[in-house]
Amino acid sequence: MVKSIGLNKIKTAVFISGTGSNLLNLIKFSKSKNSKISIELIISNNFRAKGLKYSKIYKIKKKIFKFGNQRKDEKKILYLLKKNKINLICLAGFMKILSKNFITNFRGPILNIHPSLLPKYKGLNTHKRVIDNEEKFSGCTVHFVSSRLDSGKIVLQKKVKVLKNDNEEKLSKRILIQEHKLYPMALKKLFY
Ligand code: GRF
Repeated sequence: MVKSIGLNKIKTAVFISGTGSNLLNLIKFSKSKNSKISIELIISNNFRAKGLKYSKIYKIKKKIFKFGNQRKDEKKILYLLKKNKINLICLAGFMKILSKNFITNFRGPILNIHPSLLPKYKGLNTHKRVIDNEEKFSGCTVHFVSSRLDSGKIVLQKKVKVLKNDNEEKLSKRILIQEHKLYPMALKKLFY
């Protein structure tokens, strides 16, 4: 397992596809007192990902791979990660499924945040399915990435109550607030 040694921080890459609120949250966390991680790289499959703006704001390198040819792009990403001595990957709203080859060839842990109480509601449209099924609770999960979708070992979870008049938007907003607490907590649990 990766540990930060002395003043050496854990060099982290964050993978995004969209808004990047979890990315921003992780950047802020990395700048907090006694933080053990430093975010060195932002990787996206989407040129239009809003979260890419944080690269400029916080002067963090960014690189976009379209995943037109996933095998080739993953190879390029692995090279880039190695070149930048990255030893932790945090997926944060990254919409591509990384291959088994990529996961086994990266030399450190890969974490993901998923907006449900895994193992329930893997995959997409979690909030809609939760509401349709009249669940009393949903939540979010930080887990290790394995070659099976949303199935790696769970690090931490947070429950969120589903309210009577909830819709996808309301529920996802309340869960996102908890995601922003959970990801840093999970990193602390693993690396501090
Ligand atoms: C989050 O709900 C995350 O759990 C899911 O995608 C969303 C990304 O949001 N995987 P953001 O781009 O971090 O704002």
